[in-house]
Amino acid sequence: MAWLITGGAGYIGAHVTRVMNGAGEQVVALDDLSAGHAGRLPQGVPLVHGSYLDGALLGRVCAEHGVTGVVHLAARKQVAESVAQPERYYRENVGGLVTLLEAVAEAGVGRMLFSSSAAVYGNPDVDLITEDTPCVPVNPYGETKLAGEWLVRAAGRAHGIATACLRYFNAAGAAAPELADTGVSTIVPMVFDRLTRDEAPRVFGDDHPTPDGTCVRDYLHVADLADAHLAAARRLPRPDASGDLTLNIGRGEGVSVRELLAAIGEATGDRRPPVVEARRPGDAPRAVASAGRAAAELGRRARRGVPEMVSSAWRGWQAHHGS
Ligand SMILES: NC(=O)c1ccc[n+]([C@@H]2O[C@H](COP(=O)([O-])OP(=O)(O)OC[C@H]3O[C@@H](n4cnc5c(N)ncnc54)[C@H](O)[C@@H]3O)[C@@H](O)[C@H]2O)c1
Repeated sequence: MAWLITGGAGYIGAHVTRVMNGAGEQVVALDDLSAGHAGRLPQGVPLVHGSYLDGALLGRVCAEHGVTGVVHLAARKQVAESVAQPERYYRENVGGLVTLLEAVAEAGVGRMLFSSSAAVYGNPDVDLITEDTPCVPVNPYGETKLAGEWLVRAAGRAHGIATACLRYFNAAGAAAPELADTGVSTIVPMVFDRLTRDEAPRVFGDDHPTPDGTCVRDYLHVADLADAHLAAARRLPRPDASGDLTLNIGRGEGVSVRELLAAIGEATGDRRPPVVEARRPGDAPRAVASAGRAAAELGRRARRGVPEMVSSAWRGWQAHHGS
């Protein structure tokens, strides 16, 4: 009875691995280490160094470790890269998922959690995005996540696998410095990167139709996100009782870029004013989750706020960058 965690050495995957392992679940991580770090894994958690695009490897891992559940986090995840390299995104995020699902069905795995994204919604003009808001992705990354959801649900129905599609909003923070996000593709590390290089943070547009003119997003502490995975894993019906759970994983609270920068200023002590640049094409003014369904289904809400997200992320940044 083990959970296979693909992308288990990644930023979110390592938090999920740690929470599930700490809660007494048996876990095995699979990661090709293209973006992950083996050092993020807790002592005693086995790491299989390889790709989920390798069906034969998946078959061996499932058999050797007695895998009965899968948390599939590994993916390519950068919007701009997906626009430049759509074939690669479809090949890995969708084609690779076909390979994974074939292996999962063959091994008789009964439960699967899939890392989806708020990107499946595109830019809906609503105050709070519910799970019933139409999905109209606006880039290949979001398209592959939506196609992934369809595939996961269809395979679940066909093979009696209980599935959950978790649509994450904006993950930030770190449960421990060594687990921090080391990439600079999301706003918090992106701002740290600017500050570390003695440059002012950038704001893309301050004329959006929002209270302070900057974009509003739903930031969620990665430790809360990891807790939601454990709750979802335990909420899924027993193996063989197929059924899907599709949930937004956010806090349901909008935070503007200016508000986030103010919190970063508090955490870092660097309060230099940002430079305002042109809006980026395709940026939605507001994307905030309705978090009610997840609270009802999982019996929990996010506990940690923005100050804790940015201060923990800053400790992680300093640990990695030695400042
Ligand atoms: N970070 C966010 O705010 C966010 C928001 C929405 C959705 N997501 C989704 O969450 C998941 C995890 O994101 P993250 O931020 O932790 O990214 P990450 O890049 O830190 O983690 C992904 C991990 O998968 C591994 N990986 C990539 N391709 C692989 C392959 N073919 N085989 C095995 N391992 C492979 C990487 O080495 C890395 O460790 C992704 O599916 C992403 O789309 C993230």
